[in-house]
Amino acid sequence: MTHPTAHTPPLTLIERLVARAAGDAEGPPPLSRRIPVGVYTEQARFEQEKKALFERQPMIIGHESQLPEAGDTLVFDWLGIPLITVRDKAGNIGTFMNVCRHRGMRLVQEEGQTQLRSMVCPYHQWTYGLDGDLRNIPLEDCFVGLDKAELGLVALPTEVRHGLIWIQLDKTLPMDLDAHLAELGPDLDTFAVADYSFFEQSTRTINCNWKLIQDAFLDGYHVVRLHKNTVGPFFPDSLAESDLQGNHIRSAVARNEIFDAVNLPTDELNLRLHATFSYTVFPNAVMIFHPDYTSIISLFPLSPDQTIFVHTMLTPQTPSSEKERAHFQRSFAMIDKGVFEAEDIFASEGTQRGLRSGANEGLLFGAYEATALQFHDLVEQALK
Ligand code: FES
Repeated sequence: MTHPTAHTPPLTLIERLVARAAGDAEGPPPLSRRIPVGVYTEQARFEQEKKALFERQPMIIGHESQLPEAGDTLVFDWLGIPLITVRDKAGNIGTFMNVCRHRGMRLVQEEGQTQLRSMVCPYHQWTYGLDGDLRNIPLEDCFVGLDKAELGLVALPTEVRHGLIWIQLDKTLPMDLDAHLAELGPDLDTFAVADYSFFEQSTRTINCNWKLIQDAFLDGYHVVRLHKNTVGPFFPDSLAESDLQGNHIRSAVARNEIFDAVNLPTDELNLRLHATFSYTVFPNAVMIFHPDYTSIISLFPLSPDQTIFVHTMLTPQTPSSEKERAHFQRSFAMIDKGVFEAEDIFASEGTQRGLRSGANEGLLFGAYEATALQFHDLVEQALK
């Protein structure tokens, strides 16, 4: 698949990789910088990040294709409170606190994707519509002065943009996605995010700080080493380029095919063949554009050293045959368990255990990990 009309910034990164592959440009200059261990371990720092980043910033919680029909629902507690995202009969997608307005029971019990006609509280059977409105109170006359219109589920700001479902935890602030995206949208369109389809999702609780995962995905240095038995052989050593788009980071790691691209005209450069692009969508998501599918990783911290890791895989279309489905199932197993769990999460959890030892006062980053340092600078700015 070529992208002759691709948005310019990703092409610019590929051109920089081609120049380095051809020996016409240098890599980044040597550097040594340390990030203090406390950034990953201190409770006070964690509380600060929760407030400034995870309550006030829009976050991706899924893809629109997960909820194609009225009543399709996502039930999740990833942000520390029970939430439910549902498509109503008018086609709108809304997010509500999954909490009954009577005596506060968690309303819908099953977690993950489900299909509902309405939401019925198991305790006293107050019933809510898919739009969150309170529809029915058994023995309503036993209450005095209730206004059902004021007792709908508590809604959170929710919007679908570029096929992604965005929510914001702080409902007292307007969710300004245009400001948040900072012109990232054309990149998401270039990679056809809205046209892809939901294929599979995994959710796991991992024992490390959420930023260790971000560090791993912003580090070209480890690719041929940590991943030497899986995807490492597809990539030359430490050949990566990145730049900023607002608070988001656009990264391209050259694939071996980059050397075939040295004499190609720009309109034959291929954004999924000559490099693997990943986007750190601030603050807590990573989108990875593999050659024939897309991974979205969303990170939700539970404590300084525990994080919920949600991996959503999208495919160019819903598989049309068993053979195609089996192909993507193998891809999902390989990337989700073989690479993310057995390698990236393994290294991040091992680092967290190492941090507690006191062996180091800071984590050392060099030239090929400089993009991770940019991410830490963005977090620091947001906390100010
Ligand atoms: Fe939900 Fe009573 S707590 S109906």
